[in-house]
Amino acid sequence: MTNIILLGPPGAGKGTQAKRLEEARGMVQLSTGDMLKEAIAKGTDLGKRVEGIMARGELVTDEIVIGLIEAKMNDGAQGGFIFDGFPRTLKQADALGDLLSRTGQTLDSVIEMQVDDAALVARVTGRFTCGNCGAVYHDVTYPTKVQGVCDVCGSTNMKRRADDNEETLKTRLMEYYKKTSPLIGYYYAKGRLSAVDGLAEVDAVAEAIAKVLDKP
Ligand code: AP5
Repeated sequence: MTNIILLGPPGAGKGTQAKRLEEARGMVQLSTGDMLKEAIAKGTDLGKRVEGIMARGELVTDEIVIGLIEAKMNDGAQGGFIFDGFPRTLKQADALGDLLSRTGQTLDSVIEMQVDDAALVARVTGRFTCGNCGAVYHDVTYPTKVQGVCDVCGSTNMKRRADDNEETLKTRLMEYYKKTSPLIGYYYAKGRLSAVDGLAEVDAVAEAIAKVLDKP
């Protein structure tokens, strides 16, 4: 069982690679962004509380996301967890450490997906996802084989995110540099950090991640 964090700015490719790892290794993706978006789609109280914050590109409170992760970790995962978009602050990182040690688990690897800001605008403005199975696509770099039809499940329910525009991306990036990027030093100091080139093609990034995970 391997527990890992995919760390990187918005559009770095965390979700894309998490889905690959689920398929290849039977791991379970825990994306706080997806959990929050689901709450918004369902119109729950939580969804109503976070909708405006997320549309502005700001982070929701630590307490909310720590609670979401804790609930999901209780379900367990035989192949291990892929933490995608969590932790995003030092407080969340400490909480994850506590949750793992309380359940007798370890954090095996933190993979920093390195990209540059210029590429991220094109990445997020071209992104669309399958509303049924969550598969992630891109208008130019990763289109569906048949236009408008999901390669994975055949659904035609494709979605675009409200926060995937240039203006909101600026706030999301600022939040990343101010609050999340300190985690790079945090996990380096703990001896858990590895970096991969997130600008490479999707398959090449997947191979680089596999090399990190399979390192003896
Ligand atoms: P969240 O949903 O986590 O969004 P994010 O971190 O901004 O990350 P993204 O989903 O935008 O990008 P990604 O790295 O997954 O890239 P993807 O694989 O899709 O969070 C949304 C919001 O929720 C936050 O702003 C915040 O408000 C809130 N939130 C969530 N977690 C929180 C937390 N822990 N604490 C506080 N608030 C929280 O790829 C992007 C595009 O690029 C796709 O189109 C894809 O096809 C394409 N692509 C991917 N890889 C490649 C490649 N190698 N080459 C070319 N194209 C590629």
